[in-house]
Amino acid sequence: MIDFHTHLLPNVDDGSKSIEETKLLLDELSRQGVGTAVLTPHFYPLADTVKKFLERRNKAITELLTVYDKKLHPLLFVGAEVAYFHGISKADELRQLCVEGTDIFLLELPFCKWDDGVVQEVLDIADNLQVKVVLAHINRYLPHKNAKYLDILQKNGIILQANAEWFLEKKTLKKGIKYIKQEKIGCLGSDAHNTLTRPPRIREAVDNIAIKIGDKPLNRIFEFSKNLLKKAKSL
Ligand SMILES: [Fe+2]
Repeated sequence: MIDFHTHLLPNVDDGSKSIEETKLLLDELSRQGVGTAVLTPHFYPLADTVKKFLERRNKAITELLTVYDKKLHPLLFVGAEVAYFHGISKADELRQLCVEGTDIFLLELPFCKWDDGVVQEVLDIADNLQVKVVLAHINRYLPHKNAKYLDILQKNGIILQANAEWFLEKKTLKKGIKYIKQEKIGCLGSDAHNTLTRPPRIREAVDNIAIKIGDKPLNRIFEFSKNLLKKAKSL
């Protein structure tokens, strides 16, 4: 299993609040059978600088490595979850926030109804910054009536990442399965933030998907995710 979206690094965003919590989260991902995880702390471009963010992230990585057990824990890659702003497609420096060693750029869009301008700017990010955009937790944009825009983005090469929680509740599972069956989902993520209110639940999600439609679509997703990370540098 590949967990494409996590907040496991200690004290770098609203994710893990201590090195002890980071260790518990890593242990839990291993227990659930996650073999690879991408560390994607939040980056808010309007409130932060890339330089400061990278310094903070490096410090957190050094701390994480004190509890990291290569034999037991998932293989880890480092990236960021970058928040959208108007003009983001011209911010060349954000290229540094791709998953290390790759051109994979995890983007968080606003939680409101988008418009054509937002869609165009996402496509411009891919063109101008020369990155492959992965759109974070697409299930969270659907209640804002963005299905039409998600389709346009996906058809234009934007990769869609779904969160585990989509597949945990009966009322949302059906829609999630539909997206998987239509081969719209490129990556899955736990989006784990902590051990209590937002713990990793990717195993349950994967099991629910497999019960409904079997392993084949999951294998396709994980194979696709693996390919995206082919050139990534692990910790
Ligand atoms: Fe996130």
